[in-house]
Amino acid sequence: MTKEIKFFIDGKPITGHAGQTILEAAEAANVYIPRLCHSPGLEPYGSCRVCTVLVNGRPQAACTLPVAEKMVIESESERVRDHRKSIIEMLFVEGNHFCMFCEKSGNCELQALAYRFGITAPRYPYQSPQRHVDASHSDVLIDHNRCVLCARCIRASRDRDGKNVFQFVGRGAQKRVGVNGDADLASTDFEATDAAADVCPVGAI
Ligand code: FES
Repeated sequence: MTKEIKFFIDGKPITGHAGQTILEAAEAANVYIPRLCHSPGLEPYGSCRVCTVLVNGRPQAACTLPVAEKMVIESESERVRDHRKSIIEMLFVEGNHFCMFCEKSGNCELQALAYRFGITAPRYPYQSPQRHVDASHSDVLIDHNRCVLCARCIRASRDRDGKNVFQFVGRGAQKRVGVNGDADLASTDFEATDAAADVCPVGAI
C-alpha cells in the first residue's frame, strides 16, 4: 500500500495516496473537478487547464500535479469557477461549434461543461476560423472545426493503438492535429475500431 497523503479541498479533509494526482485523489474521495483533456487510461497531458485549482494560492492543473501532504486546494470558489468558465468560453470561440447541428450533441464533453458553467453566449468574439474536414477515410471523418487540441487522439493512437497516426502540426492559431504530417486519414492504417476513434471529447473524430 502506498503512503497516505492528507490534504484539503475547499476546506474538506481528503486522504489520498502518494503518486496520485489531485484529480485522481479527489475523484476517489467523490469530489468532482471538471476536466477536458484528461481521459482515464491516457497519460496525463495538462493542456486544457479546465481542471485548474488553486494550490496554496497558485493556479495548477489538477490532472498532472501529484498530491502532497497538507496541500490546501481551492476548487469551487468563485475565482476558480470563473477562470474555468473563461477557458471553456475561449474554446467555443476558437473553433466552430454548432451544438444544434452536431450529432455529438448530448454526448459532448465541451457542451456538458458549457451547461455546468451556465454558458449561453461566450464573452469573447467568435474567431470563426477556416478549418478542414478530412472525409477521405471510408469509415471515419475528422472535422477540425470541432477539435479542441486536447491530444487525446494523439495519446490514444500512440499508447493504446501503437500507431502514432496523429501529431500536432503548426504553431499558435495554426496549430492543429495532423495525420502523419500532412497526409489524409485514408493514407494511414487508422481503423474505426482504434481506441483513438473513441476518445475524442467533442466528436471531431
Ligand atoms: Fe487537466 Fe486538461 S484536464 S489540463
